[in-house]
Amino acid sequence: MGILKKSLLLLSILGVTSFALAQDSVIKERTKLFKNGKDIGFITILTPVDVVKKQAGKVTIKVKGYRLENYPQMILRDIKRKELYAEFKDEKSSNESFKTVKKHEDDYGEIWHEVEGVFTIDLKNIAKNPDKLKLKAKKTYEQSCSMCHHLPASNAYTVNQWPQQIESMMEQVTLDPHTKNLIIKYLQQHAADSK
Ligand code: HEC
Repeated sequence: MGILKKSLLLLSILGVTSFALAQDSVIKERTKLFKNGKDIGFITILTPVDVVKKQAGKVTIKVKGYRLENYPQMILRDIKRKELYAEFKDEKSSNESFKTVKKHEDDYGEIWHEVEGVFTIDLKNIAKNPDKLKLKAKKTYEQSCSMCHHLPASNAYTVNQWPQQIESMMEQVTLDPHTKNLIIKYLQQHAADSK
């Protein structure tokens, strides 16, 4: 067992840190991203992140995802599954915030960049208890979407189909933006092709 694994194990046994498995951390609320004090975009609720460092109420996170070379503003889960992780106000902010790890070409000849970036956000924007947040997302979905018809199975649609389904439902349902984002992310993370 490596030193890092050993110390993580020790920490989790001692219960010293709630971030024993850093890659299991998730964003608690849609949160603005800043660079040199400038508001450059946001990261979405329920986006998985690595916690790199915690200090004085702040947390440094690493975000990994994919973006289109021709439209770098959006950071998505991967080439096939277009779950939104982060969105920037312009190309420059995206290009300055993320570094390209690898380039890929999809079936349509579009070039994708596999990217990662490091940001500092308030500690309160990381879910202390990811399971609790995920349960809340599930309950919100169940309560909001079972009034008029049976609750649709989350795997009835794909990651890319769900946002469209929710949009088409907006003629019938009023959801505040927070609830809508939470439900979209929940459904995308439990969609037919989410695993
Ligand atoms: C105010 C009532 C109401 C609420 C609340 C509601 N729906 Fe619907 N939903 C409808 C109606 C009406 C239809 C259309 C039924 C049809 O045409 O078969 C529908 C159809 C659907 C369909 C099926 C579309 C298809 O092509 O078969 C899906 C998926 C769906 N809703 C998802 C949701 C989700 C997700 C939510 C929660 C955000 C939700 N609905 C909340 C009224 C509602």
